Amino acid sequence: MTQQTVARSEAAPDHGGAVGLRVSGMDKIYPTRRGRVEALRGIDLDIGRGEFVSLVGRSGCGKTTLLRVLSGLLPPTAGTVEAGGRPVWVDGRRDDAAFASFGLVFQEANLFPWFSITDNVALPLKLRGESTSSRRARARELCGMVGLSGFEDSYPRELSGGMRQRAAIARALACDPSVLLMDEPFGALDALTRDRMNLELQEIHAASGATVVFVTHSIPEAVFLADRVVLLTPRPGRIRSVTEVGLARPRSMETETGAGFQDIVRGLRRELDEES
Ligand SMILES: Nc1ncnc2c1ncn2[C@@H]1O[C@H](COP(=O)(O)OP(=O)(O)O)[C@@H](O)[C@H]1O
Ligand SMILES: [Mg+2]
Repeated sequence: MTQQTVARSEAAPDHGGAVGLRVSGMDKIYPTRRGRVEALRGIDLDIGRGEFVSLVGRSGCGKTTLLRVLSGLLPPTAGTVEAGGRPVWVDGRRDDAAFASFGLVFQEANLFPWFSITDNVALPLKLRGESTSSRRARARELCGMVGLSGFEDSYPRELSGGMRQRAAIARALACDPSVLLMDEPFGALDALTRDRMNLELQEIHAASGATVVFVTHSIPEAVFLADRVVLLTPRPGRIRSVTEVGLARPRSMETETGAGFQDIVRGLRRELDEES
């Protein structure tokens, strides 16, 4: 694995050495009827508490698999996964407490069409047994945070794709997650909406202090958002490089026109091209 430091900055967040997520010697093999599919091999990755890590790589290189292993949805074939210092898997069984405070966001918003936006956002609180009044109040607050004020009583079909994705983010934030795992959440959005969502996600990250792992196809998006960008090789996915972004925060659309930003993007594109 090449550890690459492109730029450092005084503005880099201080994680105080606290580890949010740790993966050690992790392999993931899918047993299928036609044989074993080796999706990930020898993944070692420490993600600091509050850190924002983007995960990039070609289609099929194992990004979703890594996110699913990190989220506790999928057991690793070998190696260990820790969340907040606790092993997620013990003797092949998942320790639910280790990842109780995880929020997940996928490419599709997956909202319940027959629930209002408020009720969708409040669903995790309902499952946790919170009272109707307290979860409604929290859902309204979250709608405000993601720019959905005024749409609390709307239904998913009445919202644009970007707005539905915002609702999905609000729902993921409902339980105050310490870890937010996002799999190409803006992949289906138009470019302008995506830029806006990136700015908003940056604010949400700063405000919530959550550890974020963000999968994307877009290298500029990965660099814009991240403290570090992890590049995976094609199957089996291995960590090819870890790039420290180090650009000052908060970042704006001007950041993308800066030489520092463009150098990092160019370097990562070159690495990706070398693989094809
Ligand atoms: N449930 C599964 N069973 C068998 N193979 C799978 C399964 N899920 C993913 N794969 C394979 O594992 C590899 C990595 O997939 P994935 O993690 O979805 O990649 P990415 O998200 O980077 O596109 C791919 O070759 C894919 O076909
Ligand atoms: Mg994927």
